[in-house]
Amino acid sequence: MGKINGARFLVTGGAGFIGSNLCYALLKEGASVMAYDNLATGKHSFIEGFEGNGLSFMKGDILDNEKLLSSMSEFKPDVVVHLAANPNVKLGISNPVREGLESTYSVLDAMAKSGVKAIVFSSSGSVYGKDALKPTPENYSPMRPSSLYGAMKLGSEALISAFSNLYSINYYIFRFANVIGRNATHGVIFDLINKLKQNGKELHVLGNGTQTKGYVSIDDVVDAVLYVYKKSGERENVFNVASDDQITVREIAEMVVGKVSKEAKIIYGTTREGWPGDIPDNYISNAKLKAFGFTPKYTSKDAVEATIDSILYRDKHR
Ligand SMILES: NC(=O)c1ccc[n+]([C@@H]2O[C@H](COP(=O)([O-])OP(=O)(O)OC[C@H]3O[C@@H](n4cnc5c(N)ncnc54)[C@H](O)[C@@H]3O)[C@@H](O)[C@H]2O)c1
Repeated sequence: MGKINGARFLVTGGAGFIGSNLCYALLKEGASVMAYDNLATGKHSFIEGFEGNGLSFMKGDILDNEKLLSSMSEFKPDVVVHLAANPNVKLGISNPVREGLESTYSVLDAMAKSGVKAIVFSSSGSVYGKDALKPTPENYSPMRPSSLYGAMKLGSEALISAFSNLYSINYYIFRFANVIGRNATHGVIFDLINKLKQNGKELHVLGNGTQTKGYVSIDDVVDAVLYVYKKSGERENVFNVASDDQITVREIAEMVVGKVSKEAKIIYGTTREGWPGDIPDNYISNAKLKAFGFTPKYTSKDAVEATIDSILYRDKHR
């Protein structure tokens, strides 16, 4: 059983979307937190209000092995929450293996050298690939990622398993559906709103709109992660985190247009896949999480609606 009150958590990617929300929840439960982040996509403003209230911020890259190790050795975390990743690991970026896999190796190596015995890792439903059974359970095989992003996540999971065996590290791997909500800085909803702000007359959507996607609210993600961490007595933990249902890209586009620019014409692409590596039916099962006692509160539609509202509110009050 994992303890949070009084424990020390080093959160890589702590200034990001999921990271800032998780840091806040950990602090509320009485943890001491170090957010370690290079601010590539994260924002210091997401966490600066917590600094001095149990949180310290270290600007650093997880690929900088020396800095990561010295930060870990000094802070002495009980747990590393490893969220830092390039969300754009895809065809065309210069070094996907370095961005998506060596970075996880660097974190695990620093943990082994500084004696940290637990890791929470943000994996993704994309590890299963587009041809997997839907909704996909955690024990589905064969796992055949369709994107480099999914491949790097699956590779990271394999590294975690090996380090766990070699250095007696407990692990909590969470395969998230599409996570959305407060502090989101990327993803379909974010892109659609930005496009409409640039041109309120037309909205070009990637793919033909029939893609079905599972979304999960950031509030459910944070609560599920902390719930499993506190309740599980197992050394190896793998859980999908998803809502019960899906939503189509067409429904999302219509909701965004309805709230941002009602006169806009929606123009869809011609293929079901929105981009190379897209999973047109993205649907992972939350049955294991529910059987373990955690039921997400929000549907995909609730989460999409709340996210549109929070992005619009943030833009208005900037
Ligand atoms: N958002 C989703 O839908 C989703 C779904 C599944 C998994 N995940 C995973 O959850 C994690 C967090 O994602 P997010 O949506 O909050 O994205 P995000 O981009 O907001 O967060 C990533 C954070 O990591 C930091 N970072 C990136 N590379 C770094 C490096 N080399 N060294 C130090 N910091 C670095 C960024 O500055 C950012 O603050 C990622 O691992 C992502 O792959 C996200």
